[in-house]
This record gives sequence, C-alpha cells and structure tokens, in this order.
Amino acid sequence: MTDIVYLNGEFIAKSSAKISVLDRGFLFGDGIYEVIPVYNGKAFRLQQHLERLIYCLEQVDIQSPYTLQKWHELIVQIIAKSVQPHISIYIQVSRGCQIDRVHTVDNALIPSVLIMPSELSPQVAELAPIKATLKDDIRWQYCHIKSTSLLANIILRQEAHKQGFQEALLHRNGVLTEGATSNIFVVCNNNILTPKNNQSILGGITRDLIIELAQNASINLVETDINISTLDTADEVWISSSSREISPVTQIDDKIVASGEIGPVTQKMHRAFQVFKQTLIND
Ligand code: PDD
Repeated sequence: MTDIVYLNGEFIAKSSAKISVLDRGFLFGDGIYEVIPVYNGKAFRLQQHLERLIYCLEQVDIQSPYTLQKWHELIVQIIAKSVQPHISIYIQVSRGCQIDRVHTVDNALIPSVLIMPSELSPQVAELAPIKATLKDDIRWQYCHIKSTSLLANIILRQEAHKQGFQEALLHRNGVLTEGATSNIFVVCNNNILTPKNNQSILGGITRDLIIELAQNASINLVETDINISTLDTADEVWISSSSREISPVTQIDDKIVASGEIGPVTQKMHRAFQVFKQTLIND
C-alpha cells in the first residue's frame, strides 16, 4: 500500500489529503516538484534529487521549508510507511496560501509541502521500445526549473498521445532540447550525443548518471547542439527519466530509427544502469 502521504507536517491517508483553494500552487502553478524512484526501499540518487529541489526553490525565490537533513528524514519516513518496495515519490512545494488571488507575492507565506508515494512498476527496468513524435518546443525559457506549471508539457504529451506516440521530442528552431517528460540521447557512429545542459532543458538526474556511466565505460559522450536532421541518420535514440530509466526510441513520426531494433549502445548503457542500481539495492 502506498496510501500515506505527508502534507504540511502530517502523515495522512492519500484519500483525505486536501489543499486550500487559496494555495498558489493550485491557483498559479506556483511551485516546484521532484520525482524520486525508490527501489527495494532505497531512494535512488536521493541527494541529487534533493539538491535539485533546493536549487529550483532558490531559483523561484521560495524558501525551502526544510534543511537537506530534514528532507532526507521525511523521505525515509514516507518509505517506511509504504508497504511496496518499488515506489515513486512525488514532492511538491508550492509558495503557500495567500489571503486572495493576487499575482504579487506576500513575503510572509508558508510553503505547502506534499510528499506522495505511488507504485513504481518493476517493468521500468525492462528495455521497452517506444514511438516518439517531433514537436516544436513551445515551453517557456526556464526549462531548467522543475516547475509545477506544466501546461505546455501536458499539451505536447497529449497531442503526441492522441497521435499514437508515447513521447514528444522537442526542438527549438531545429535544435533538439529534450522530451516533454524526459531527456534525449542520440547515438551516431558509436558516439553518444545529448543536448547541452542549459536553460532549455531540465538537468535530469538520470541524464547525469548516464553521462557518468558512459565515462566509466569509456564511451564517447558529447554534450552538444543536435540538429533534428541528425535523427534521420542516427544509429540509436533513447530517452531517460526517473520514472522510465532508459527507453529506446525506435520510431520517430513515420520514420524507423536505423534498423528499428534496440541498438548495442542503448543495451550497454542499460546494462550499466541496472548494475549501478543493483549495487544500491544490495547495499
Ligand atoms: N520528469 N526533462 C523533463 C521535461 C522532465 O519532465 C523529466 C522528468 C526529465 C528527466 O529528469 P529526471 O531524470 O531527473 O527524472 C527531463 C519527471 C519524471 C516527471 O515529470 O514525472
């Protein structure tokens, strides 16, 4: 069971967790979030996720309600209350409740905190190919901030979904940025390419780990601008995220990527990822 959540200082049943209509997260999407996978009761890359949470809060001028230590403790507590071994923990910190719906922020607000587990399918560890579609990146210019204002991402994902695709791959003026809910990697001649980490993408925790693992395996990985035309000749493409790990993309719109099979570099990186994960689980 994963039905206990932490809401503003209390552990309560998910079904009875309620927020005020005055919460700025509800009214404006004025908040920051995180998604942390937990395997066998162990939070994966917890420190990195919490550091990103605190960084993003600073970027939007919301005071982190807790220290890093306290965040760690709360995560450990929520894991202990979850019976399922594999879960995904959603953290949301909104700016808090204001007396009325006004855009200007009252500086005395107390941020609202939700920590909510949900089941994580063990199938995320399997390499399941997906079909993606290329779309214009219509999002704002602060995509490095993990903001709860996700309307553009939702529109893009929904359009993709309606057309039968599992992800939208985004580009700005012909240069790839990331997926609507993931980072992107392209393999060309045994080199892995991934877009540079700047304000146009979210610096994914999974992305960072893949970069580390590629270095350890002496596979050449370059952070660079990738023109969408590169996809026409790419040998392999995959996306990464905390909820999907590594997902091979074998079709983009009506074009099959290379042979349409899961490529050797994807398989190698996937194995390295699973070995790394296993070390944590056995720790
Ligand atoms: N999304 N880019 C975007 C736009 C994302 O939404 C995500 C993750 C990523 C990958 O980041 P990470 O490896 O840290 O999960 C990149 C999460 C999982 C979500 O919105 O549910």
